[in-house]
Parts: sequence; C-alpha cells; structure tokens
Amino acid sequence: MKILILLFITFTTLAYECVLNGFNFSSIHSEIEDYSFFQDNGIITYVNPCGRLLYDYLVNSTSPSPDYSVLTIDVDDKIDLMGLTSSEHLKDKKDYVEFKYSSSVSCSATENYETKVKVYCSKDVQDSIFYVKYDDSDCEFEVKMYHSLVCKYIESKQTSSTHPHPDDHDDDDDDDDDDDDFPVVGIILLLILLSSICLYLIIGAVVNVLLFKRRGIAVIPNYVFWLSLPMLIKDGCKFIFCCKKPSPEPFYEEAPDQDFADMQF
Ligand SMILES: *[C@@H]1O[C@H](CO)[C@@H](O)[C@H](O)[C@H]1NC(C)=O
Ligand SMILES: *[C@@H]1O[C@H](CO)[C@@H](O)[C@H](O)[C@H]1NC(C)=O
Repeated sequence: MKILILLFITFTTLAYECVLNGFNFSSIHSEIEDYSFFQDNGIITYVNPCGRLLYDYLVNSTSPSPDYSVLTIDVDDKIDLMGLTSSEHLKDKKDYVEFKYSSSVSCSATENYETKVKVYCSKDVQDSIFYVKYDDSDCEFEVKMYHSLVCKYIESKQTSSTHPHPDDHDDDDDDDDDDDDFPVVGIILLLILLSSICLYLIIGAVVNVLLFKRRGIAVIPNYVFWLSLPMLIKDGCKFIFCCKKPSPEPFYEEAPDQDFADMQF
C-alpha cells in the first residue's frame, strides 16, 4: 500500500512537473510572454503550459491567485479560467502532445468545460496558437498551437524506437503493419494445405469405394498413417519440447478403431 501511494505521488508529481515518457516539457513554459490568440469575435485566449500564466488578472486583488494556465478574455473584459494548472495532465497523441485541464467555467448545469491544448511540432512559427474552438456538444474547449519542443519530443521517440526502450509504449506502430501481414500469408498457406488434404482424402475415398470396392475405415486413403498421425505428432512434440526420447508406448494405444470402423464413406 505504501508503495502504491508513493507511486501515485511520484506519478502525479511527474505529471505536474510536465514530464511525459521521461521527456521534460517544462521549458515549453514561456517566461517572457504568454502564448496568445486574438479571434475575430474579440476574444483573446492566453495559454502557458507547464506553469501559471504570466498574465495576472488579480493585480490589485487581495484574494490568493488561483492557478491558471489557460484563460480567455472577451470583449466585455469578462475573464474565464479555462485551464487550472493543478489539473494539468500530459498525453502522447502520436503527432501532437495534449495538455488537458479542467476549467472553472460551466458548460451545462452539471458540467464544466474540459480544456485540451494540443501542441503540434513546428520549428518556425510566427503565431504559436492557430486555432481555438468551443465545442458545447461535448463541453470541450480546444486550443491548437505549435512548439519546437514537440519536434524534439517526437524525434526522441523515433530514436528510442530504433533502439527499443522498455519504457516506450507507443512506438509499436511501425511494427504493427509487418505483424498484420504475416498471419495473412500464413493463413492463406494453411488454407491451401488444408484444402489439398481434404481434396486428397475425398478423391482417395471415392477411388477406394468405386474402384477398389473398399468399405468402412479402409475407405480413407492410407488410413494406417492417418490413424497413427496423432501419436506421431504427440511423440514428435514430446521429443522436441520435453527433450525426452519418444515414449515407448505402442502407437495404437488409444487408436479408436471402433469409432472409425463405424464411419461409412
Ligand atoms: C524539468 O526541467 C526544469 C528546468 O527546465 C527543472 O526545473 C525540472 O526539475 C525538470 N523536471 C524533471 C522532472 O526533471
Ligand atoms: C492597481 O493599483 C495601482 C496602485 O497600486 C493603480 O495605479 C492601478 O490603477 C490599479 N489597477 C486596477 C485595475 O485597479
């Protein structure tokens, strides 16, 4: 239990410190200026992940400053805290990194907005934020932006995937295609083999019945071999996997002669 609590604390601390899969994102936090976006409808969005915004809307207030990494100001100077720093959670989304926050702005009677800041890779950008959207259907506030740190993160993932690392969970995609192709070929070959065996058995049985007038189990072509096959496989497996000599038991120990003899072809 102590270990679990310790792990939980370590995990949440790491999440709060902006570390994702061992990659430290804390330098995404700008100490000079918040990332901002001015929309046509006059709403300004400020974002500064991995810490609090520099923009302080409580300049002359005596109340303790709440933590906020994302906020919006509308034309009437109404301020909405869209991302609470303490709720920040990083997620790897393959081609972008998601910084998820809970907000203090209600979307419906029971729900607050959930804010997702999706940071994409770009080495050279003028406006780091390029897209802001409210989605009232699922109470989501979405911000898309660029940062070069995400390029470094994606690069570090790629280098670690060529040298597999036990901590990587998301790097298996390139290999998945190969894994998908292999069984398809195998299954086709297996089907061809099985249908050949069926064809061989059917034709052999027909020939045995019509040409040689055989009845009962003798209808199966080479039935002595087929009857002994399970035992042959069993002994083969024993020999391969158990590093033992083949069992000295006789081949026909369990041969169900009676059952087979009842079959008519
Ligand atoms: C991440 O880097 C910052 C400095 O850029 C440092 O203060 C912080 O301790 C680092 N976090 C971890 C978990 O290494
Ligand atoms: C904050 O206080 C300073 C003086 O302490 C004052 O000059 C300024 O106008 C105040 N700002 C607001 C928004 O009230």
